Amino acid sequence: MRLKLRNVFLVYFVVSSTGLLYALLQLGQQCGCTRQINPGNNIHRWETPHRRGGENMPVIYVVTPTHTRPHQRAELTRLSQTLLLVPALHWIVVEDSAQRTSLVSDLLAQSELQYTHLHVQTPPAMKLKDSDPNWLKPRGVEQRNEALHWLRENRSPKDHGVVYFADDDNTYSIKIFQEMRNTHKVSVWPVGLVGGLRYEGPLVTGGKVVSFHTAWKTHRPFPIDMAGFAVSLTLLLNHPKAQFDPNAERGFLESSLLGPLVTVGELEPKADNCTKIWVWHTRTEKPKLKQEELLEKQGKGSDPKILV
Ligand code: UGA
Ligand code: MN
Repeated sequence: MRLKLRNVFLVYFVVSSTGLLYALLQLGQQCGCTRQINPGNNIHRWETPHRRGGENMPVIYVVTPTHTRPHQRAELTRLSQTLLLVPALHWIVVEDSAQRTSLVSDLLAQSELQYTHLHVQTPPAMKLKDSDPNWLKPRGVEQRNEALHWLRENRSPKDHGVVYFADDDNTYSIKIFQEMRNTHKVSVWPVGLVGGLRYEGPLVTGGKVVSFHTAWKTHRPFPIDMAGFAVSLTLLLNHPKAQFDPNAERGFLESSLLGPLVTVGELEPKADNCTKIWVWHTRTEKPKLKQEELLEKQGKGSDPKILV
């Protein structure tokens, strides 16, 4: 009887250990990622399949204007962590400020991204006031032009690359970066939740852009949101004067850059002939900080040493 019990126990032990081992092996296979330990700052990161093999790809230069506000760190954190999933990417962050802030400098230093940190202040006459409706003046114009200036100073037409203007509050699928990677002149795709529509975007026939699905200022030469196109670096460097016009009529900012660079017929439709939405013009609600102000007046505001 004692011998039998021991056998049962042994069989149970072997079967359950094999099961456990098998389950662990399956877990490893599903993940398909290699853990990397950065010895510099002890941050553990998963190197995903999306990010591998960037050596011979054209570099995507992502240009992001950004400005100080209570939710800036949250926006930049979200965006930087999306960009971590994209290989061969260089983030050009341009602050709308008189100098680089430590908030953005620290965030970039810890991001593990390849980046360039610039700044230029929007002239006061062009700057949106807190009380203004947000459409009154264009935003991020001087900053995007500063990035174009940096690219022209620091890159040559031989460098293979593509430039994408990615605002800090939109939502980006990693698929949109795969779509734009090989851009001959200017590639285009639809953008979700913009222009008062579910999406706004190019209409394609026979592989060519023939018109646009839009309902707002339909006479715009390029009725495309900033998030809906990417430009070849070579094309930008070969047109050294091409830039965003700070005085462009509302809605004509994108056209002011694209007009001298390309014709509608030359646009390269991506995202399955512009039928897939991989980027959304989301906007974050302004945080309500009434209670903070009340507490501050009583000298009991939140700890300023805690970075939010
Ligand atoms: C829309 C477009 O999607 C923008 O690309 C375009 O610049 C803008 O309209 C415009 O007409 O100027 P919207 O969501 O209304 O975008 O603009 P924001 O997201 O408020 O600003 C666009 C970018 O400029 C953001 O990255 C933001 O951080 C930056 N910004 C905004 C500044 O650098 N300074 C500011 O004072 C305000
Ligand atoms: Mn926005």
